[in-house]
Parts: sequence; structure tokens; C-alpha cells
Amino acid sequence: LFDALKQQPADALLSLIGLYRDDPRPQKLDLGVGVYRDETGATPVLRAVKAAEARLLETQDSKSYLGPEGDIRYTELLQPIVFGKAVPADRLAGVQTPGGTGALRLAAELIAAAQANGKGAGVKVWLGTPTWPNHAPIMAAAGLAVATYRYYDQASQTVLFDEMVEALKGAAAGDIVLLHGCCHNPAGADLDLDQWRAVARLVAERGLIPLIDLAYQGLGDGLEEDATGARLVLDAVPDALLAYSCDKNFGVYRDRVGALYVKAATPARTELIRSNILSLARANWSMPPDHGAALVRIILDDAGLTANWRAELDGMRARINQVRQALAAGDPSLAFLGRQRGMFSLLPLSGEQVGILRRDHAVYMAGSGRVNLAGLTLATVPQLIQSLKAVR
Ligand code: LMR
Repeated sequence: LFDALKQQPADALLSLIGLYRDDPRPQKLDLGVGVYRDETGATPVLRAVKAAEARLLETQDSKSYLGPEGDIRYTELLQPIVFGKAVPADRLAGVQTPGGTGALRLAAELIAAAQANGKGAGVKVWLGTPTWPNHAPIMAAAGLAVATYRYYDQASQTVLFDEMVEALKGAAAGDIVLLHGCCHNPAGADLDLDQWRAVARLVAERGLIPLIDLAYQGLGDGLEEDATGARLVLDAVPDALLAYSCDKNFGVYRDRVGALYVKAATPARTELIRSNILSLARANWSMPPDHGAALVRIILDDAGLTANWRAELDGMRARINQVRQALAAGDPSLAFLGRQRGMFSLLPLSGEQVGILRRDHAVYMAGSGRVNLAGLTLATVPQLIQSLKAVR
């Protein structure tokens, strides 16, 4: 049986972790996979998370199963942070998932299940390019058809908003539109508020269903600011999906902490969707891992810990934006980095230039030219600027 399998390439982005680790050059720069790093290059456990872990260790009296929905209080406490107000419980189904990837996979399977039961042509999932390299494989793994449109031009560093609108005018009612809520991965270029409003109107008018990927809330302009666009879209439509990740804004990457929220037009449909996502979760991972979500719950249930977490998140965001401003000030051709937000931006480099940067300058970035700016410090900004000059 297994002879029929085809060899799969290692994931290009995740391979960088090992390549970087094995590089003996002391001046090496890791701008690869998307994790926050502090001024010393470390990805520390947040102090609020450490405090929550101590509390969990002291108070947890059982590791018995919680059920396919995971920690219900966790998904409830996240809600006002994501949606800004309490969404009526009879209009919002939320489940804890293993990371944002688990939320996206569950969303994809929900869409596929609805499509399999329905009549008519297949639903398409619209992805703007470039996008996170895992988006299309996740949709394809659930059997969904993907359509793409150009979202961002790497050479001129501009969002191709008119192309996006034209493409979405060609989408059919019921099609899914995946939108990056903030801190676009990989481009770092988000829609402005007028563009969000226009997208909200467009998806509402055409009966499209938004699937918002919100994985970096708080790392762009602030927790509230980073959710504004998503909320405009969510408010405009009867049905919407939102895949959330706490992995980056709580720094709990390997604990895999996410949630899928589905907004539905009626209480009856909410219940229908809830029953389906629970049954799909059961067939996938049965129940999500508890530890990370329990930590987020402990933090958000305690005003003091929440304030500490927010302050640490503010610090992470300020450091990333400081690096962005230093790059923009250090080289006029990098001015666009100062206007973009989040951990990532795309440098206008060819694959060959990316290879030379790695080989000759020990600068590691994704093959697309995506850089994780959190991998830099004010001290290493000039090193990147010099290395880029050398390959141009
Ligand atoms: C990234 O894009 O670097 C992160 O989201 C990590 C991942 O899973 O790809």
C-alpha cells in the first residue's frame, strides 16, 4: 500500500529552523519562522504566562476530559477581545482548537461538509496572493477548491486593492473569502479602514462568507485597532467564520492555542453549526490540548494578570515597530517597512538573492523574501541593511 506514496518535500519554512540551528557562524540572523524574539534574541515565556502556569500547577485538581469544545470559559473570555462586545450566545458558536491551524482546518471541514450536503456547484475559497503558504494546503486537504487573486505587489510594495475588488466581484454567492485580520502574513500590508468598509459592503452585497484569519492581534497597532477591520466585516454579514490564534500574542506557540468562532444568521443555524463543528473536532483530534488554553483562561479571568499580559504585548509590539522604524530610517529603499505592521514583510528579493544572503551573509529568511522583523534588534539592523546592499 505505502509504495504508492510520493516523497514529500520538507516544509520550506520549518526547515529553516534546523538550517539556522546548524549554522556555526556567530553573526547569523534568524528572520525565518514567525516567532517573537526580544532584544537578546530569545523567545521567552511571558511573565503573565509563567504566573498562570504557577497558578495552574497549584490549583488544577483533575486532568479529566473536557469534551470536544475544549475549555468553554477560554472561548468566552476571548470573545470580547476579538469581537469587542459580547456577541449573543445564540448567534456565535465557538470552540477551542489546536492553534490557528486547527481552527482553519475545522473551518475548512465545516465548509466541505455543508457543500457535500448541498446542491449545486462547488464552493470556492478565495485567497489573495501571496498568503501564508499553509492556507491553500489546508483548504485542499479538506477537499475544497481554491481560487486566487493578486493581493500585494512585492516589487512596488502596494496592496492591489482594485484587483482584489474586481476578483471578488467574480465570486459566487456562498463562496468563502479568506481575509487576514491584521499583520498580513507574509506581506505586512493590511487594508486601511476605508478598504475594510468597502470589502464589508462587497461581501454583504454578493452573499460571500468571510473567513477571517486573526493570528497576530495586538502585534500591529494594538488589540482594539487590530480587530477593527475584522469587526466591520463581521457586522456586515449574517454568516462568518473567524480562525483565532493565541500562539503569538500570548507567546504559547508550541502549546497550540486557537479557537474557531462561527457567526450564524439565526439561533437555529448557530446550533446546527455548533453540532457540526463539535462532531468534526471529535473526528479530528477528539479534544484539543488543554494546557495553553487553560493559561489564557487564567490570565483573562484575572484583572491583574490581564493587565500584565497587555503590557507585555504592548512591549512586543513596540519593539517590532521600533525595528521597522530603524530599518526605514537606515535605508530609503526600506521606507515601506515603517508603514507596514506585524512580524512580517516581504523584501523585494529573488530566490537567488535569498540564497546568497543565507550562504554568504548568514541571513536566514523564507524563500519568498519574507522576513520576520522580530528576529532583528537595533544592534543588528545595520547588519541586515549592509547584507541587502551587498546582494543588490
Ligand atoms: C509563520 O508563518 O512563520 C508561522 O505562522 C509559523 C507557521 O506555522 O508557519
